[in-house]
Amino acid sequence: MTIRPIQRIIDALPTPDGAGVKLRRSLGSSQFARLDPFLMLDEFSSDNPDDYIAGFPAHPHRGFETVTYLLDGHMLHEDHLGNRGDLKTGAVQWMTAGRGIIHSEMPQQLQGRLRGFQLWINLPAKEKMKPAGYRDINPAEIPVAALTGGGRAKVIAGTLETADAAVPGPVQGLSTDPLYLDIELPAGARFSQALGAARNAFLYVFEGNATVADQALANHHAAILGAGDAVEVLAGDAGARFLLLAAKPINEPVVQYGPFVMNTREEIEQALRDYQAGKLTHA
Ligand code: CO
Repeated sequence: MTIRPIQRIIDALPTPDGAGVKLRRSLGSSQFARLDPFLMLDEFSSDNPDDYIAGFPAHPHRGFETVTYLLDGHMLHEDHLGNRGDLKTGAVQWMTAGRGIIHSEMPQQLQGRLRGFQLWINLPAKEKMKPAGYRDINPAEIPVAALTGGGRAKVIAGTLETADAAVPGPVQGLSTDPLYLDIELPAGARFSQALGAARNAFLYVFEGNATVADQALANHHAAILGAGDAVEVLAGDAGARFLLLAAKPINEPVVQYGPFVMNTREEIEQALRDYQAGKLTHA
């Protein structure tokens, strides 16, 4: 079994988004900092309402999926389809923008900590114009597996495959076959996971620090993993908490303009025309 080495480390850069929400953006901080099919990973984490209270008022998306994972706090999603998603601590929202969605994501708290992630996963050309879809995943639907080396893994998408367990998460069967794990390890614990060579993979550390295939990975950094068929992580002195994400690459051209991600410039121009004409979400 070949352990996947770190191929590239991406520092999470402070970035404002929405109506002034302070974020740390690792993947997606430039067009050169993507990992097919992952387009972007934002971490938001603050105890100061000024950093988050303005939220993300109504805005469009086309051509990909957004996955919001709330670690602490309370947010409300509303969209043009009439969905209302009340996201509380530990919940996930899996939204497929497809041909178009217009939604808002607003904090439902005036104080306290708001912390979580938004991940953007691309869709292949044949799925970019499919109808929008939406799923709320309650914390109770997300399995928590104890790890033999110590610590635990929450399985949001795909299947955790360790030496002695296969634990499927609630999200399965997508064409990019995503794996989305939230892993917490005590100091010195070792985690390994089989990961077939067909999937691209990266880690994002958000508490403590870790060593990945003998290379140090500090807090608030993403590590894109190279070729191999297993991931191995050793937690640092203060333990480590990280996301492990993997998915099958789409291998198509990516043209992004803000919240629209298509294959060609012409398709982006069409998305802008559709949005301006109020037809983004229409069949
Ligand atoms: Co959005």
